Amino acid sequence: MPLSEKYRPRTFKELVGNDSVKERLKQWIGSWLMGKKQKPILLYGKVGVGKTSLAHVLAKQYNLHMIVISASDIRDAEHIRKLIPTTTMRKTLFGQMPVILIDDVDTLAYSSREDRGAVPAIAQLIRESGIPILLTANDVWDKKIASIRQLCELVQMKAPSYKQIEVVLKRVVKEEGIATSDKVIETIAKEANGDVRAALNDLEARRLGNRDREVDIFTLIKMIFYGKPIKEIANKLRLVDEDIGTIKLWIDENIPAFFNVNDELADAFNWLSKADVYGGGTYEFGRIKKTGAWKLYRYVPALIAAVSTARKESSSYGRFNRPAYINYMFKTQYLRNMRDAVCGKVSKRLHMNRREVWEDFPLYARILLKGGEDSKNYFRLDDKEWSFIKEVVEGKHGKSNHHKG
Ligand SMILES: Nc1ncnc2c1ncn2[C@@H]1O[C@H](COP(=O)(O)OP(=O)(O)OP(=O)(O)O)[C@@H](O)[C@H]1O
Ligand SMILES: [Mg+2]
Repeated sequence: MPLSEKYRPRTFKELVGNDSVKERLKQWIGSWLMGKKQKPILLYGKVGVGKTSLAHVLAKQYNLHMIVISASDIRDAEHIRKLIPTTTMRKTLFGQMPVILIDDVDTLAYSSREDRGAVPAIAQLIRESGIPILLTANDVWDKKIASIRQLCELVQMKAPSYKQIEVVLKRVVKEEGIATSDKVIETIAKEANGDVRAALNDLEARRLGNRDREVDIFTLIKMIFYGKPIKEIANKLRLVDEDIGTIKLWIDENIPAFFNVNDELADAFNWLSKADVYGGGTYEFGRIKKTGAWKLYRYVPALIAAVSTARKESSSYGRFNRPAYINYMFKTQYLRNMRDAVCGKVSKRLHMNRREVWEDFPLYARILLKGGEDSKNYFRLDDKEWSFIKEVVEGKHGKSNHHKG
């Protein structure tokens, strides 16, 4: 799960910025709960500022039963009309107030074909339903949704400041145990330009290639391979802020270069595999501590450290390699994030399955590029995404098996 999903805010406090919007929503739902009918609220604002999240937080904090309508489940107007009778009920079976979320109503207007009339159907739903309705949109002034807009109270969500984004990043960094610096966090927060999702994706992309962390890992690996006492290594290992799976990758990668005698090699790998068995794979220290599984886990550092005992006088001193896998992940993680972002925007606009766009990406990249500025604007692609598309078309990121055409 991407960090941005994993750390979707759960409370009003975790959702940074837009305090007055939060207050307005609380008032609004308060009135509904007292039996006073209110106009639907249309939350609008830039991508990744927390529109969808805020709707979910409200539902959660007020124990509402939320029905979500988004572009991906709308096929036609009929689909929406079928919902209307259910939306006149005031309470659900469990006594919860229902609320409808019509997410990304602007793209929804594009995603259904005109003749199928999703927009009039939504307008009808708004007029006839007796329950709270929230809507979200990026482009609230789009002509296509004018008839819906008229029926709503417009509430703008502003982009959080970089300071506020820093708060989000710091929470994630802490909970994930990511080793990074305040400077890096500040840079990410500033570069995000108010888009919190982008900031979290950026953090995730850098996570695998963080140099600060590698300094520590180098020290640790050196201690292991130069045969320092196990106790010292085990202590260092506990301090290294890195998940055990990654540490093992480093050891694995470097064993062949440092243990040049056959039985040394076998011995080293043997210890490493024992660490695997006791470690249960890729647990992280932080998580282990929380769940209490550390009782078993405390053997692992000693076992990894014991790899060092496989080293004998005869062994050579070589150069350390960064595991190929980490290099690979660092590169592909970034590419995947970019590709994901573009696919998300394109599939939203075209009402397509995200996977379809993903699989035929090189083809879509060509079409997008051909459309020039117009398609850049239409799909709301930013400069980074646009240059990524160019690079794909130029073949910089390798040939894709899926290319048709
Ligand atoms: N104000 C915020 N506080 C904390 N996290 C946020 C905030 N806004 C966005 N995020 C993070 O970014 C992710 C995406 O946010 P969300 O889906 O709410 O954005 P959105 O405004 O609905 O964007 P879009 O226009 O693309 O639908 C969230 O899962 C969360 O991790
Ligand atoms: Mg949204």
